[in-house]
Amino acid sequence: MTLDLESVRQHWDAKATAWANHSDTLSTMADRYNLPLLEAAGLKSGDHVLDLASGVGEPAFTEARLAGPDGVVIATDLAEGMLTALKARDKGTLLHLTTADMQRLPFRDSCFNRVICRFGIMFVPDPMTALTDVRRVLVPDGRAAFMVWGRRDDQTLFSLLSSAVESVTGEPPDDHHFQIFRFGEPGSLAALFKSAGFVDVTETSHSFTPLAPLDVPFWRAPLEMTFGHVVDQLSAQDRQKVDDDILNRLQAVREAKGYRLHANLHIVAGRHSM
Ligand SMILES: C[S@@+](CC[C@H](N)C(=O)[O-])C[C@H]1O[C@@H](n2cnc3c(N)ncnc32)[C@H](O)[C@@H]1O
Repeated sequence: MTLDLESVRQHWDAKATAWANHSDTLSTMADRYNLPLLEAAGLKSGDHVLDLASGVGEPAFTEARLAGPDGVVIATDLAEGMLTALKARDKGTLLHLTTADMQRLPFRDSCFNRVICRFGIMFVPDPMTALTDVRRVLVPDGRAAFMVWGRRDDQTLFSLLSSAVESVTGEPPDDHHFQIFRFGEPGSLAALFKSAGFVDVTETSHSFTPLAPLDVPFWRAPLEMTFGHVVDQLSAQDRQKVDDDILNRLQAVREAKGYRLHANLHIVAGRHSM
């Protein structure tokens, strides 16, 4: 299922407020995801970095820190609302911001030596066009590294939240939700990197099993960020039903000291050779 660009833009613009409200809660986990991704990109001090689908700032803030004062980091996103929220969170980094669809990058050829994208390529109508344009803006020998979620069944929290929302609304999640797992099948994004002309393509899978606290409604941030556009329409009573349903489902993964969650993601990296 491919969604058109305008509906993707509207979807993410509508989510920008929820992402802005909850991003600080989630930034404590940022390094767990960012560091292996930035290592796959080979990011170092002085690099010229293009960050795609930057959302409200991760991993662009970490890239700015690692690239240092001699580097340049440009954060881009299709949704202007996301970049407005990113700007408000910026505590004096040297990030540059540009609204851009990653299928048509507004940059000249060969001007970056790293292109990085965390959890963005799956939402793009034509990922092959995006990867071809990424290759165009990379210098020869430059590297691209992208992070995507693994299969939907391997993500405790996403599966549990969507089941709870569905059981209360009676509606299956919309198509935007399923896009999240578009490259969940191992090897699928790596194959696209190769077709777009990248060489030395690598893919690594990473699994995390965090223990979520028993006494804090930790799921509210991811619920708002993933299904805010649905739960915001519900009555207070139905919202309470969603919370109750989530708590019920969590009992299946309860341990003595918390709820054991499972998440899986892939990092695909490649080099541009002329
Ligand atoms: C799940 S968020 C990821 C944000 C951030 N990179 C992170 O990991 O927290 C997905 C982002 O992709 C952006 N996006 C979707 N389609 C895009 C496109 N064609 N070009 C650029 N950004 C796009 C959305 O606006 C949204 O901010």
